Amino acid sequence: MTKPTAKLEIGGQDQNHEFEILKGSVGPDVINIASLYKDTGMFTYDPGFTSTASCESKITYIDGDEGILLHRGYPIEQLAEHGDFLETCYLLLYGELPTKAQKEDFDYRVTHHTMVHEQMTRFFTGFRRDAHPMAVMCGVVGAMSAFYHDSTDISDPHQRMVASLRMIAKMPTIAAMAFKYHIGQPFVYPRNELGYAANFLHMCFAVPCEEYKVNPVLARAMERIFILHADHEQNASTSTVRLAGSSGANPFACIAAGIACLWGPAHGGANEAALNMLDEIGTVDRIPEFIDRAKDKDDPFRLMGFGHRVYKNYDPRAKIMQKTCHEVLGELGIKDDPQLDIAIELERIALTDEYFIEKKLYPNIDFYSGITLKALGFPTTMFTVLFALARTVGWIAQWKEMIEDPKQKIGRPRQLYTGADQRDYVPIAKR
Ligand code: SDX
Repeated sequence: MTKPTAKLEIGGQDQNHEFEILKGSVGPDVINIASLYKDTGMFTYDPGFTSTASCESKITYIDGDEGILLHRGYPIEQLAEHGDFLETCYLLLYGELPTKAQKEDFDYRVTHHTMVHEQMTRFFTGFRRDAHPMAVMCGVVGAMSAFYHDSTDISDPHQRMVASLRMIAKMPTIAAMAFKYHIGQPFVYPRNELGYAANFLHMCFAVPCEEYKVNPVLARAMERIFILHADHEQNASTSTVRLAGSSGANPFACIAAGIACLWGPAHGGANEAALNMLDEIGTVDRIPEFIDRAKDKDDPFRLMGFGHRVYKNYDPRAKIMQKTCHEVLGELGIKDDPQLDIAIELERIALTDEYFIEKKLYPNIDFYSGITLKALGFPTTMFTVLFALARTVGWIAQWKEMIEDPKQKIGRPRQLYTGADQRDYVPIAKR
């Protein structure tokens, strides 16, 4: 059977061009235009990569129209319902759900990498206490390259595996240290008898003066929140990690680059921005004013936590996050949370508004996460840190897939140049 092709006819060029169409296991086919420049002397042009597949991957699949999210084929709803975060980590890294023995071994290995080099505590004292914790995360995670030299050789599979375990294991410790430094409390060491999320909550909220018992309902909710944030195909921060990794940079530096990109309010910073927006709205009766602003082309205001490049339906993670939000508020006995009331009413109005329907704008994962994290005791400045903590496994899995791809080469996009043509230097006296 002949391979499907795409034909391209370019005005003024007499020859037709044919490009191979590659089929995925599910989702859109792609036109392989790798030879386009060689064949036609032209580039494609796609700012924001709205129609561009940057790589082949087997890790995560999103059907934006149907609101489907699969990790190695497993629906996010099932992973969040039945498994814990380290099970999802194993699945993302190795492609299959672990057996009992594999899970126990993986949990043991991650647990025994949770401490950081004691010298790393010195980094924190260089920051102001009121520094944004994401600024601290960018700095301290990047500095891991200065400590773990025995797992920076990306050509060595063993070193790649050790670096992956270290990143997944140490992110909660570093995130908790950033939080403790931010609030002026002493660092709390990881506890090996605790599960991944329980350990993180203990490192964040325990104090030396008294015993701290982690609430198992809140620990379960934290595990689920981490699962929801674990990976999301080629989003901006994952693409940043892949691009950084394509030059051969070490994994710690690549993850630091991903953290920097995630910080933006259009991306992972939206959970912090969404809660600040609910604060700014203040009361339910002011919602229409903000809906109007969101629709006003001349107003840069957007509904934070709404809209998505891929989802043109409800983000499946947002539904689970909303359910988790109610569970956490219920467990904590928070009956009426004014921000939750505003969020629910804002969602109801937006989902019936012609503008949002026409533009297919639905709540995304960041819409309810902030309310949940605030109820768990985190300040808004820590919300994106928790997103980065959970997304580290996705970044690592995608980085690993890229490094192990024999076709991998350095990422180097081209451009449409519309600047000045060549011209001669003019001495300053003659300008
Ligand atoms: C994450 O990519 C991922 O997978 C990301 C993520 C992950 O897990 O990694 O899912 C995490 O980043 C979720 C998104 C969090 N960001 C926000 O909630 C910020 C608010 N949302 C918007 O900034 C926006 O929706 C984006 C950035 C998320 C998506 O932007 P796009 O795909 O570039 O879409 P667009 O800006 O071209 O918007 C299309 C239209 C525009 O109107 P027109 O120019 O066509 O007239 O919809 C409008 C936009 O003005 N629009 C909004 C809106 N989002 C888009 N209008 C009001 N409020 C909004 N939130």
